Amino acid sequence: MSKHRTHLLDRWPVLLFLLFVACTGGGSTGKKADREVNVYSHRHYDTDKALFDAFTQATGITVNLVLADDNEVLARLEREGERSPCDLLITSDAGRLGQARLRGLLRPVHSALLDSVVPATLRDPEGHWYGLTMRARVLAYNKTKVRPEELPTYQALTAPQWKGRLLARSAENLYNQSLMAAFVAHYGPDSALAWARGVAANFARDPKGSDTDQLLAVAEGIGDVALANSYYIGKLMSGTEPERAKAREVLAVALPTMGGAGTHVNVSGAGVVKHARHEAEAIALLEYLLGAEAQRAFAEGNKEYPVRPGVAVDPVLASFGALNPDTLDLAQLGLNNATAVKQLQAAGWR
Ligand SMILES: [Fe+2]
Repeated sequence: MSKHRTHLLDRWPVLLFLLFVACTGGGSTGKKADREVNVYSHRHYDTDKALFDAFTQATGITVNLVLADDNEVLARLEREGERSPCDLLITSDAGRLGQARLRGLLRPVHSALLDSVVPATLRDPEGHWYGLTMRARVLAYNKTKVRPEELPTYQALTAPQWKGRLLARSAENLYNQSLMAAFVAHYGPDSALAWARGVAANFARDPKGSDTDQLLAVAEGIGDVALANSYYIGKLMSGTEPERAKAREVLAVALPTMGGAGTHVNVSGAGVVKHARHEAEAIALLEYLLGAEAQRAFAEGNKEYPVRPGVAVDPVLASFGALNPDTLDLAQLGLNNATAVKQLQAAGWR
């Protein structure tokens, strides 16, 4: 009996603390706990951080941001399972979002606002993910050596005239896998393989580096045509770095189509995680990021195409020409990713 009483007395500090936590709702983190959203994002841009701050200002909801490795983030969510603190996954490729859905890591959410603002081809049909910004995978060429009419389609890249002149990053890169997945979706695996084989046969060097590295390699004369995402070109062309002056001088942009279909586009987008504890806050953040103001910030700050209709494209992107985006349902990028990876390997695109 006395032993029991001693125990209770021993526990007084603990009981007092628990009482305190119950009364204050968890101390410094308590009140915030139901007004926060935990985000894993692959987008490491200043524009995003400024938008998260503005969202917190507007709503009182704290954004806890973890910058995630795009190649590792799905494995991490799987590993963490129900214990994952993540509410909202933001990635830079619809293929990744599609894979996340296929692996059961996202939940469908319903928002009339999101469904009305995001075009149907730029979101998951059941609300597992939504596009936030659009980017086109296009061609930057040396305008002293190439005429734009030589690059009407992606298919044109397989012509013998481009032997030793093309630059692209590795096939391990998801942007290339998603371009290939779009080819698979439109033309089937065999035609996609033949296309990739033809492109790889024309490479100026073995694939290496980032999209921006391909642009700089054109300026250095290593090749004449580079495959790159539109925002990397937009950022380079609107930049002021003296060491990139040569690239700004010689580069021009072609918006190739996929033959019958338009220019390959992809989205950076977000989905609410299956075990999210802050679903309402995650949806609120999604809705904020798709608001006209945030869409303008993405366009101006990061040179991305707005997903929301009616928001102006940044002048540097507008200078590339009018984009005629492929209207392929981007859910196809995730569904065809495995085939795309296999066929890129078979094509010798390293
Ligand atoms: Fe990127």
